[in-house]
Amino acid sequence: QGLHSLMVAAGKLYFGTATETNNFNDAAYQAISTNKNEFGMFTPENSQKWEVTEPTQGQFVFTQADQVAQKAASNGQLLRCHTLTWHSQLPSFVSSGTWTPETLSAVLEAHIKSVMTHYAGQCYAWDVVNEALNDDGTFRESVFFTTMGPDYIPISFRAAASADPSAKLYYNDFNLETTSSKADGAVKIVQLLKDAGAKIDGVGFQAHLTVGQTPSREELAATLSRFAALGVEVAYTELDLAHASLPASDADREQQARDYVAVVGSCLDVAACVGVTVWQFTDRYSWVPNTFPGKGDACLYTSEYHKKPAYEAVLELLQGA
Ligand code: G3I
Repeated sequence: QGLHSLMVAAGKLYFGTATETNNFNDAAYQAISTNKNEFGMFTPENSQKWEVTEPTQGQFVFTQADQVAQKAASNGQLLRCHTLTWHSQLPSFVSSGTWTPETLSAVLEAHIKSVMTHYAGQCYAWDVVNEALNDDGTFRESVFFTTMGPDYIPISFRAAASADPSAKLYYNDFNLETTSSKADGAVKIVQLLKDAGAKIDGVGFQAHLTVGQTPSREELAATLSRFAALGVEVAYTELDLAHASLPASDADREQQARDYVAVVGSCLDVAACVGVTVWQFTDRYSWVPNTFPGKGDACLYTSEYHKKPAYEAVLELLQGA
């Protein structure tokens, strides 16, 4: 038994990982990621983002993400698809274009339609809108918001619902895991979509957290329940737990193990939580040190593929679930 098979035994849909084609020629990595007992779901870490899938207006490139999707399909693993409307990793024709609400809306709808139609039936879920909020709960000043106002959110979800009616449609963001202005903002997004009559099925909690600063299992579960009460499912979509400074001591690694248990445990505690995805399972490919130099060692496995105390603790938690 491994992380995924135990999650399924506990009544959840998956324990998954982000992965990417640049990991495919690493045999040690592949042996773990394609072991369906461990990982039952893949999220393409970068290859479904707008700059990759539509680098030039109207010209779509799916080569890379297709390889991730095919690997998942041939292993009988689910795919969470990521992401459609996001301010980051945009091609310059979008980020530097001169737009009116009408012209940008047409480009956004065409993008969503083409990408989702290509993957129709293959995605358990899509992160339709990603990171629309500032930490104070106001809308982020993306090209979408500054041009279209909050309307870009229901426009995105409506386009998604018609392109692939079988995919669960998610709003996905970070720093939503506790009671905060940002979580309040996400509640408002769910309500805004429901008021507009647009379909939203889920809220994704990225859970890029820091060792020793992770909320308790109870607080995490209370937040998940708050969203579940709005009538959506919830999931941890990008979990990792970085050490604030390196090297990590044995005590730090034990704290990291307790923090991973709090997060995964909170998903077990809330029926509407369908699964947990880690944002890479090995420090070898974690995004953290590239973005936050000096932080890291955030994953369940070391760079050399040794299981950390965090892995053992999550396994033990799931064995008892
Ligand atoms: O592909 C180029 C490569 O050609 C070039 O040589 C290299 C040099 O820097 O850069 C490569 O692109 C990098 C890309 O990852 C692919 O590896 C970018 O610089 C780098 O910025 C990019 O980082 C990604 C980041 O999103 C960008 O926003 C991370 O891998 C990815 O893990 C991260 O994922 C995001 C989620 O999508 C949304 N939530 C937050 C999460 C972490 O930031």
